[in-house]
Amino acid sequence: MYSSLLAFGYLLASVTFIVGLKMLSHPATARRGNLVAAVGMTIAVLGTIFLYEKEGEPLGNYGWIFAGILVGTIIGTVSAKRVKMTAMPEMVSLFNGMGGACAALISLVEFDHLMHMDPMVLFALAMGGGEAVAGLQGFLLIILLGLIIGSISFAGSVIAWGKLNGSIKDFSFRGQHIFNLGLLTIIIGLAAYLVIALPANPHWYFYSIFALSVVYGLFFVFPIGGADMPVVISLLNSFTGVAAACGGFLYDNKVMLTGGILVGAAGTLLTILMCKAMNRSLANVLIGSFGGNTKASGSSATGGTYKEISLSDTAVLMSYANKVYIVPGYGLAVAQAQHTCHELEKLLESKGVEVNYAIHPVAGRMPGHMNVLLAEADVPYEKLKEMEQANDEFSTTDVVLILGANDVVNPAAKSDPASPIYGMPILDVELAKHVIVNKRSMKPGYAGIENELFFRPKTSMLFGDAKKILQELVAEIKSL
Ligand code: TAP
Repeated sequence: MYSSLLAFGYLLASVTFIVGLKMLSHPATARRGNLVAAVGMTIAVLGTIFLYEKEGEPLGNYGWIFAGILVGTIIGTVSAKRVKMTAMPEMVSLFNGMGGACAALISLVEFDHLMHMDPMVLFALAMGGGEAVAGLQGFLLIILLGLIIGSISFAGSVIAWGKLNGSIKDFSFRGQHIFNLGLLTIIIGLAAYLVIALPANPHWYFYSIFALSVVYGLFFVFPIGGADMPVVISLLNSFTGVAAACGGFLYDNKVMLTGGILVGAAGTLLTILMCKAMNRSLANVLIGSFGGNTKASGSSATGGTYKEISLSDTAVLMSYANKVYIVPGYGLAVAQAQHTCHELEKLLESKGVEVNYAIHPVAGRMPGHMNVLLAEADVPYEKLKEMEQANDEFSTTDVVLILGANDVVNPAAKSDPASPIYGMPILDVELAKHVIVNKRSMKPGYAGIENELFFRPKTSMLFGDAKKILQELVAEIKSL
């Protein structure tokens, strides 16, 4: 009776997902986009709970369903409110892992349903041959796809979460990639046999595939270098989308299918974009062990000398400049100095200095990290210049102030073929007249390699915590 209403609700929800996703592509509309999609998801979930009927029977089990929703809502809300901006990728990874686990659970439950079908019906299906058997095999194939992809995504995301928060260390052994490939071949082989031969003891095959997929997920992410984690999380995110879409096929649920496909496609596109921004292939990310605990091989020990600059000299240099570029990096996020940074920008502008921000696509620790950070401090969007535009403007810039950035301004990416970041496009800050680098020490950034920029003649180091330095700089400029 309610099926048309439910179908309409699903259609509405699908539209909100697409509109929401589109709105997420600009910082000014991203918040509302998230809300629009969340409203759509609420419609889809409530519609399913209250309007779905099977053979005229409502869903039932409302106590269990709402108890689950309550627990999930409390955990989700509290952790989302508490999470620090710098820990966002970990949280995304964990949430993504939960999505993968849900998809795998659906497959486990539906396999159980299949096994508890009336033996006579199963026998008739098997004996009926032709379309009936093909239907059974198709159903089993979708169950297995959801199980394999969901389990890999779950196990891999948990490892990615642990690696990002430092509780799990990189782990690899000789021939691990061959081992992984072998494992994957066995999983596919067992699944193919189960679907094609429909053996008499399917449980053994099914649960072996489940266990091996979890192991594969663990070993797939273990050796990947720490700096590559966001790319891996995005890839696992697309896996979860595909696994959810399998659930949509199983239940003939259009909104689940649409949502899964959107997540799968968005995750894949983001993975490709991140790889492009680092000028690396996905294969290199997956087997490159870049930015891991092991010291990168191309790190150049320059042993050169660097010069320091005082706060008062920095204040004078910046106050009397015509054009200043600020390069934000991970350190700015760690120091939570975005508000003070905005204050400095406004102060300089009040003195007639043109101030802009150069945003590298992989600055920080997650896609769009610097945009989100600076938006939080109300920095106008038009001041955030993409790498290509900033690179065009550095030659007419008087001062570049680098705040807690390192790898994204490392010239080794252009000049040292042995460097692990060779080929990654960087911000050409050296084209400007003066380069001032603020960080706390001479320690390397995420890639674990030294930065020759710090030893170059145009560069001056301004050591200290970004927030403290910016506060003192603002006070110094005000006193000029
Ligand atoms: P990094 O190369 O990681 O350098 C950050 C620098 O900030 C460090 O050298 C550190 O030096 C300094 N720092 C830390 N805390 C500070 C504080 N309180 N005040 C001042 N400085 C501080 O950062 P980046 O240039 O933004 O590059 C990002 C790197 O992460 C790239 O290698 C990228 O590939 C990788 N990555 C990117 C992403 C995405 S998608 N954005 C995700 C994961 C990894 P001191 O310790 O000396 O202060």
